[in-house]
Amino acid sequence: MNIDLSKTKMPVPKDMKELADTYLKQLQSGRMENTGWVFLPDTWTDEALSDLQKTADAIAAKCTLFIVIGIGGSYLGAKAILDALGHSRKGRPQIRFAGYSLAGTQLRRIVTALQEQETCLCVISKSGTTMETLLAYSILKEQMFAKYGEAAKERIFVMTEPKDNPLRKDVRDFGFTAFDHPTDIGGRFSILSIVGLLPLAVAGIDIRALLQGAADIPVDRLADYACTRVLLQRSGKAVEVFTYFSTDLKSFGEWIRQLFGETEGKAGKGAYPACLCFTPDLHSIGQFLQQGNPIYLETMIQYETAPDDFTIPAEAGDLYGGLTLEQINRCAETGVAKAHAEVAPVVVLQIERLDEYCLGQLIYFLELNAAISAMLLDVNPFDQPGVENYKREIRQLVAESRSTSFSTIG
Ligand code: PA5
Repeated sequence: MNIDLSKTKMPVPKDMKELADTYLKQLQSGRMENTGWVFLPDTWTDEALSDLQKTADAIAAKCTLFIVIGIGGSYLGAKAILDALGHSRKGRPQIRFAGYSLAGTQLRRIVTALQEQETCLCVISKSGTTMETLLAYSILKEQMFAKYGEAAKERIFVMTEPKDNPLRKDVRDFGFTAFDHPTDIGGRFSILSIVGLLPLAVAGIDIRALLQGAADIPVDRLADYACTRVLLQRSGKAVEVFTYFSTDLKSFGEWIRQLFGETEGKAGKGAYPACLCFTPDLHSIGQFLQQGNPIYLETMIQYETAPDDFTIPAEAGDLYGGLTLEQINRCAETGVAKAHAEVAPVVVLQIERLDEYCLGQLIYFLELNAAISAMLLDVNPFDQPGVENYKREIRQLVAESRSTSFSTIG
């Protein structure tokens, strides 16, 4: 993995870099709360991974469809990797996600698939109390029992904290198999824990390669990137645009958005994380990036090679004919970075390929960066107190609309 900060023109003062290194050591000390994720690349033993794979294989043997119900950090990580790698491996169940929206039309499609295919499902919620997750779970659980009767109990899996909550109660009442969501890992940092790895292992993704990539990050460049981002934010860059040149990385972008948005965005601080997919988004937002309000810094994710490719026919013209599509996409990466660097600071994060190993590197590098940047900004990386406000408003309106509809009926 290569990190190019030369296009940011932002020198990092020595004392700030030392502070960032100190924060990294604090994260690695094992004495900070909610830092269980820092140790995941090393703490997954061979035996634990084999057990997880066996469990995943047993689930995969029972179904052609595996529904993961969860929202935020409880589904974005697995979805990001699956979409980046082109979904389940041959012969493994299709993975579909539910419970991340309240739109009934989406859930209807999942219910139809559940009725048509051999299905298992896993509901994932650290707290075990999240509205969207629990609502979708209640509907899908009912469908599973309608389809399989008592045998549904062997097909429903629950992942939640080992604490009393509505999901734990279901585990007790129905005898579902439960997996413990690690208590010292928050949702947005859980991608390399069982939360991300179980669905990926069911899909046949190489989870060992993912963890190996995470173990091999360039630790010495963490402080540079974290400091540069924070310095740019302090200089007025209110938006960080994360860009990539494959639609396969769109869900990865959603994972990035949550990681940086929830980790840094508090106490009036943090850059708004926006994600753009090039070249499609260049045809909608490219004009703004080149000549609009220069409020952004850009972190561009590049990769050197892609597995699938086409040679452009000669009919496409002298300029393009005979080259591969990927060669042209690589030219687009370099050319766009150059053009944008004329008006904005551009960081380039370069991985070799889009595979498990390289995605593991990128994930762990970004996770550590988000945490260090938040500490440099003097905010707690691991809480999200602001989300309570909208949840309270929703609950109140639901209660009101309940009493209104009852009084209308009555
Ligand atoms: O990162 C986070 O903590 C959040 O995005 C959570 O993952 C999300 O709110 C879902 O929470 P839970 O897993 O408790 O259902």
